[in-house]
Amino acid sequence: MVPRMQDRAWAQGQDKFLADRHQARGANCAACHRENPPKDVASSEACITCHGNMGKVAAKTVDAKPINPHDSHLGEIACDQCHKGHKASVNACAQCHPFELKVP
Ligand code: HEC
Ligand code: HEC
Ligand code: HEC
Ligand code: HEC
Repeated sequence: MVPRMQDRAWAQGQDKFLADRHQARGANCAACHRENPPKDVASSEACITCHGNMGKVAAKTVDAKPINPHDSHLGEIACDQCHKGHKASVNACAQCHPFELKVP
């Protein structure tokens, strides 16, 4: 049996980035990219279509330590300020605050 692309990615440990994990769950490029070919940023609108807006995800991460990343004075900032698709995600709060957040 010929392994599927996504199985090979899992096997080779290339599923570590958010886009790979989404593809493994059946989300294609267009699920996150509204433009073809994809531009440098993903659309927050696309994320929101599946996950809901900042308020909705904030409700899911109320217990996040040390702080809820989705409920801050920055309000409705773009999801990809923190969640990167094809590289390590970043903690956008760290530009100004010392607290550490592990961003999936
Ligand atoms: C086609 C629907 C869909 C789109 C579009 C989508 N997601 Fe997801 N996402 C899922 C599903 C399904 C899961 C797995 C179940 C869960 O954790 O909610 C998931 C999981 C996640 C997780 C936690 C699990 C992990 O692997 O890290 C994060 C973080 C996440 N998505 C962020 C995003 C961001 C940011 C975007 C936009 C760039 C996005 N998603 C776009 C469907 C989607
Ligand atoms: C300031 C950085 C930041 C921004 C901006 C951000 N996130 Fe997150 N997100 C995080 C962190 C950190 C976690 C892990 C929280 C935890 O420890 O449970 C997370 C977790 C998630 C999860 C997994 C929640 C679960 O069920 O455990 C989803 C889904 C998600 N984010 C979606 C989004 C979407 C959609 C947006 C844009 C509307 C967004 N995020 C914007 C930092 C961010
Ligand atoms: C879970 C959402 C998600 C999926 C699925 C996804 N991307 Fe992305 N993509 C992003 C995000 C977020 C960025 C912004 C830059 C980054 O995070 O790497 C991005 C950036 C890009 C860029 C510009 C930056 C670069 O790395 O060159 C290209 C090109 C791209 N994606 C292509 C693709 C293709 C092709 C697919 C399907 C095989 C895909 N993306 C699937 C979220 C996604
Ligand atoms: C551009 C800089 C900047 C960024 C980025 C930023 N903050 Fe702030 N934040 C501030 C400033 C300035 C204050 C007000 C001064 C203070 O109380 O330290 C503040 C105050 C706060 C406070 C209240 C502090 C207290 O002791 O009462 C919290 C909580 C907070 N920020 C969380 C966040 C979170 C979560 C993020 C990421 C989603 C974030 N901030 C991103 C600059 C920033």
